[in-house]
Amino acid sequence: MPVDKLKILFVCLGNICRSPAGQGVMQRLVEQRGLESRFEIDSAGTYSGHQGQLPDPRMRRHASRRGYNLTHRARPITSDDFEHFDIIVAMDESNRRNLMQLAASPEQQAKIVMLGHYIVKLRTYYDYVPDPYYEGAEGFELALDLLEDSCENLLNDIINNKLQNQ
Ligand code: 4NP
Repeated sequence: MPVDKLKILFVCLGNICRSPAGQGVMQRLVEQRGLESRFEIDSAGTYSGHQGQLPDPRMRRHASRRGYNLTHRARPITSDDFEHFDIIVAMDESNRRNLMQLAASPEQQAKIVMLGHYIVKLRTYYDYVPDPYYEGAEGFELALDLLEDSCENLLNDIINNKLQNQ
């Protein structure tokens, strides 16, 4: 059933690298299309160890070079999130497995999608967004390349199939 407003939650492990960047990338795409009022976009982690922190300084630096100002404060995912959000976006298979275990019902499990499913440009090499935390600068650039590509394709899919035409 198409909806007027869609709520998307990006999820990774720590909520300091990939998911706050995905949130920032998707927020900008939505703003570029003038659709801010039709979306709620947030992010969370399956691990709570970085709770309250800004995104990793390396991710903030690489993202800011592309014009993204990442100000999200890390938080662990809650049971309310599984109720509140329409789409819960996992960065990799480990995130997806953790989320499937945390979901309280088949309906909540059905909200979980792999962002890698929407990767087109680097599809030959990646069907997930690899964790850059233990990588160098290339790891952060790669994560941002994959996020920009996949978020654009995910947004097109949502607009075409899930959002009520207005
Ligand atoms: P993220 O990256 O899941 O993309 O936020 C990580 C952040 C922290 C850790 C691992 C990955 N950590 O082990 O603390």
